[in-house]
Amino acid sequence: MSAQPSLEGVVDDVVSSILGEDHATDWDAFEQFSELVHRLFVVPSTTITPAMRRFFYALGVALSPTSVLAVGSYVGYATIWFCGDPSWMDGARSLRCVDPDPVANRIARRNFEAIGLASWSVVDGTGLASTGDDGTDTPDLVYVDLDDPVDRKAGYAPICDALLTRPEPPATIVAHDMTAQPFLVDADILRSTLDASPAAHRSWFLPLDDSGVAVIRSGAS
Ligand SMILES: C[S@@+](CC[C@H](N)C(=O)[O-])C[C@H]1O[C@@H](n2cnc3c(N)ncnc32)[C@H](O)[C@@H]1O
Repeated sequence: MSAQPSLEGVVDDVVSSILGEDHATDWDAFEQFSELVHRLFVVPSTTITPAMRRFFYALGVALSPTSVLAVGSYVGYATIWFCGDPSWMDGARSLRCVDPDPVANRIARRNFEAIGLASWSVVDGTGLASTGDDGTDTPDLVYVDLDDPVDRKAGYAPICDALLTRPEPPATIVAHDMTAQPFLVDADILRSTLDASPAAHRSWFLPLDDSGVAVIRSGAS
C-alpha cells in the first residue's frame, strides 16, 4: 500500500506543474512565518485553509514577485502568505491592497505594521478602478479575492480582463474561490474571458479545498 502524500508534497507538486520545473518549498521557513502571522495578526474571520495558505506561501516564494496587488484584501490575512520571503521585510518588494471596507483596511494596516512588512499601502477603493490606467505600475502578481455584497464574484472576469489587456499584463493572477460551488458560474465566465484573451497564456483551476483557486499566467511569465 502506498503512503498518503503530505499536504506539503501536494502543494509542491502543484507549484512545480505551474512553474514547469521541480520546486521544493522550505517548509521549516513556512512554519516559522506561520507562527509569526498567527501570533501578530488580528483576523476576525477567514476562509483561508491550511492547504491554501501553504499554496500561497509556496507560490509567493517560488514566483518571487517584486510587486503584488491584492483586490478585496479584507484584513490582509490571505495576502500575507504571498509575502513570506524574508526580503519582504527589507523594502525590496511592494504590496498594494485595495478594499472598499475602511474597517477591514484599518485592521490590515495594523497587521502589516505588526509583522514588519517594509513597503505596502492599503487603499480604500474597489477592484476595477485599481486595475486600469491609474498611474501605478503593473504588479507582477495580482491576488483577487473580492466578494461584493450584491454580485459576489462577478467582478473577477472584468478585473482579469482589464489586467490582461494592459500593455504589460501581470505575470500571474491568483483568483480565490474559483472552484467553490456557489461561484461556479463566475468561474465559467472567467474561463471564457481567459479563452478569449491572447495574453492569458495558461490557467489552472485547482480544487485544493472547498474554495479552490485559479492561477493564470500571462505571456509575460
Ligand atoms: C470575504 S473578503 C476576502 C477574505 C479572504 N477570503 C479571507 O478569508 O481572508 C472579500 C472582501 O472583498 C471586499 N470587496 C467587496 N466588493 C469589492 C470590490 N468591488 N472591490 C474590491 N473589494 C471588494 C470586501 O470588502 C471584503 O473585504
